[in-house]
Amino acid sequence: MEEERIITNKVLEQDEILDNSIRPETIDEYIGQQEVKENIKVFVEAAKLRKEPLDHVLLYGPPGLGKTTLAYIIARELGSHLKTASGPSIEKTGDLAAILSSLEPGDVLFIDEIHRMPRFIEEILYPAMEDFALDLIVGGEGNSRSIKIDLPPFTLVGATTRAGDLSSPLRDRFGIISKLKFYTQEELTSIVERTSRVLAMPILKEAAIELAKRSRGTPRIANRLFRRVRDFALVEGKETIDLEIMQKALKRLGVDESGLDETDHQLLRAIIQKFNGGPVGVEAIASSIGEEISTIEDVLEPYLLQQGFLKRTARGRIVTEKAYQALQINYQNTIFEDHFSDS
Ligand SMILES: Nc1ncnc2c1ncn2[C@@H]1O[C@H](COP(=O)(O)OP(=O)(O)OP(=O)(O)O)[C@@H](O)[C@H]1O
Ligand SMILES: [Mg+2]
Repeated sequence: MEEERIITNKVLEQDEILDNSIRPETIDEYIGQQEVKENIKVFVEAAKLRKEPLDHVLLYGPPGLGKTTLAYIIARELGSHLKTASGPSIEKTGDLAAILSSLEPGDVLFIDEIHRMPRFIEEILYPAMEDFALDLIVGGEGNSRSIKIDLPPFTLVGATTRAGDLSSPLRDRFGIISKLKFYTQEELTSIVERTSRVLAMPILKEAAIELAKRSRGTPRIANRLFRRVRDFALVEGKETIDLEIMQKALKRLGVDESGLDETDHQLLRAIIQKFNGGPVGVEAIASSIGEEISTIEDVLEPYLLQQGFLKRTARGRIVTEKAYQALQINYQNTIFEDHFSDS
């Protein structure tokens, strides 16, 4: 059931409500991502001093790390309005032209999932980003002509989980490119404590740390788990989330000691049992566990790679000894060797 799934690229409805109520609003409330934050502070400050719009910003990184949140914060720090759009919802050049021509001077235009915008539409963005101009073809066949419309100065903030899918002409037009990283345990602990304050549900430090450890380095997952754990506490009549209820709830939710859930297990187990530990291509993994390739690449793999459960080689993915341990499968029995690994 979708509702029971912790790791998903879908933003669940409850998440959206929760996301909006607990989203940090200022750059100082935004926890972690120190380097990205400091750069943005400087660029925002400079843009304000020059009375010019901020350079276009591209934010990329796995889902749930705070790209949308940061886009809102950038607009707020600039004292500007934010207009939002998303790549898949822009289907015709006219859709994008309409959005661009509705901009007011200094506005921030946030385009989420910008890599999913078709190339022929993307081309409208090039002159818009470079010269604040809209080049449009008007008129029907035979008597079409191109007209140029001036746009007010604005800042485009693009977000993507796949920077590699962006065309290079588009990528090159962003002056600021920032990669969001997985959060450390300390940062996630602070995020959990902040959520606890905002939702007025107290949590003990040790329970917050435990949740942080098991949230895949991702604030959205930490918040999602927090909400579910809060339900367990409520039902048991506890007014504070302690370690006991935390562990119990996480167990019931199928989140293991390393923060991996059933889908992660399925993926690692498939590589071990069906492909002798790899190397195996992502297509084969996808069909064996019934997931889309993009879900594996964008949602599941980044954390597994970062934590060293999985390695990427020229010939495909291989699981590491750490994955065998997490699944409690004996490594010695199945060892298929690192000489397959090219890295
Ligand atoms: N740095 C942070 N400090 C505190 N909370 C954060 C931070 N980053 C994200 N969050 C919380 O995590 C939730 C998810 O963040 P957000 O929606 O910005 O992620 P995203 O990167 O846009 O995800 P997606 O790729 O799915 O669009 C937000 O509601 C916010 O409450
Ligand atoms: Mg987002």
